[in-house]
Amino acid sequence: MIELVERAAAWAEELRGETAPAQRRRWGQYFTPPSIARFMAGLCAARHGASIRLLDPGAGAGILGIAAAASLLARGAQTVELIAVEQQARTHARLERSLARARAELGPRLQARAVRADVLELPAEQVAPGRVDLVIANPPYFKMPPSDARGGRSPNIYTRFMEVAARLLKPDGELCCIVPRSYASGRYFEGFRRSFHAAMALERVHVFASRRAAFRRDGVLQENIIVRYRKRPSARESGAVLVTSSRGAEALEASARLELRRDEILDPADSSAPFLLPTSAADRALLALARRWPGTLATLGLEISTGPVIPFRAREQLTRAPDQEAAYPLLWMQHVRASGLCWPLGQAFRKPEYIRASAPAKLLVPRGDYVLLRRLSSKEERRRLIAATLERERFTAPRIGIENHVNFIHRPGGALRVTEARGLAALLNSRLLDRYFRMASGSTQVNATDIRRLPLPASAVIDGLGRRAVTASARELDAAVDALLRAGSPRAP
Ligand SMILES: C[S@@+](CC[C@H](N)C(=O)[O-])C[C@H]1O[C@@H](n2cnc3c(N)ncnc32)[C@H](O)[C@@H]1O
Repeated sequence: MIELVERAAAWAEELRGETAPAQRRRWGQYFTPPSIARFMAGLCAARHGASIRLLDPGAGAGILGIAAAASLLARGAQTVELIAVEQQARTHARLERSLARARAELGPRLQARAVRADVLELPAEQVAPGRVDLVIANPPYFKMPPSDARGGRSPNIYTRFMEVAARLLKPDGELCCIVPRSYASGRYFEGFRRSFHAAMALERVHVFASRRAAFRRDGVLQENIIVRYRKRPSARESGAVLVTSSRGAEALEASARLELRRDEILDPADSSAPFLLPTSAADRALLALARRWPGTLATLGLEISTGPVIPFRAREQLTRAPDQEAAYPLLWMQHVRASGLCWPLGQAFRKPEYIRASAPAKLLVPRGDYVLLRRLSSKEERRRLIAATLERERFTAPRIGIENHVNFIHRPGGALRVTEARGLAALLNSRLLDRYFRMASGSTQVNATDIRRLPLPASAVIDGLGRRAVTASARELDAAVDALLRAGSPRAP
């Protein structure tokens, strides 16, 4: 089996060399490394003596279908019928060669055919819906507009591949795929999560701790996960899900293991259909504790918005130094630090730090108390959530500009209490909330929607933390949040 898989990988590598990077991106061609193909093949349940119809949609040079077929036959399947679907002409030709080789090596127990078609419009004569036992896939990924209704309505081609796979599977059939983690969070995929998880029961997850791990060769900086689902009408019922995690793409079998209930990962009580990924016993405990917190920004009467100043649109309004004309402070992401707001940065910062007072009112927020939160974090940063308070007393200017890479928390029709702002910033900067956020989102972007979903303690607790924040160190605040979570009660610290 190793031989065949390595050969398919070598052919994929040849294809890669023959195709321009832009073209590869357009086709979503990122080939699976052999170690991952073998691992995924091993995740497919083999039933001894069974005849298995196996589908590899977006097959490339065929590595996944071949690895799965070889593994199933080695584990006692009677026959495997492999259908490998590839749209791109040159790749399809290579796929045919790979499959011929696999047939020659694995013998008549393998029937394999390469179909040249668009997976999203696969004719029923090629693969009849509801007749496939197993789908193994590394689908392409790129955004798809709702106006293009091929394969479904979800916002990316990879989730449409997952939807197509679900339709083609028999009841009880399996889907094993390596996909970006992006569908686990955010508003865009909410509809997909809801409908897909109603029909498909999550059974197995593998998380890569490094964002580069899976497709290092192609420089793909995307957090990927391997998931295995089973088509079940009662998919939401709580069953066991095994979650493993590894740093890279090697030694996957020796990964850290955690056994969870499905409802710990996919909370059926939450209407936003979240998909959280705890990977350690500590994560699991944190999840259980955080779910006891009663609030969210909305229940506290708060809202989070994106800074209204988009620099290239407001170029005329921005200035490096306040000259004769009145100007207000302009706050960028770089000014937001966990240790507090750091403004101005002066010469070292090559961007304008003021916005003219004559700028349209909609670009400015009134002087007051706010929590500012960076919208992006870099890989190197220790924390994904980086917050600072913007306090009324900090500036004398009646209005402030907030740049678009900063989110700010405010109270519509009212004002935050300064202790409330300090308490919220301390929470967002805490080790535990950061960890919770990472379980909910694989992205380095911090979207307002994700923050709206964060569980928060009662208002009195937030104020209590805010009062402590004036004198306490970051470490002491971390410990206070820790204690709050453990206490799980709305008392002030
Ligand atoms: C991410 S690559 C994975 C290839 C292979 N399965 C592997 O694991 O190495 C996705 C493949 O899907 C093909 N593809 C993209 N869109 C497709 C579509 N709509 N229908 C069929 N194949 C498609 C691409 O040409 C590419 O070969």
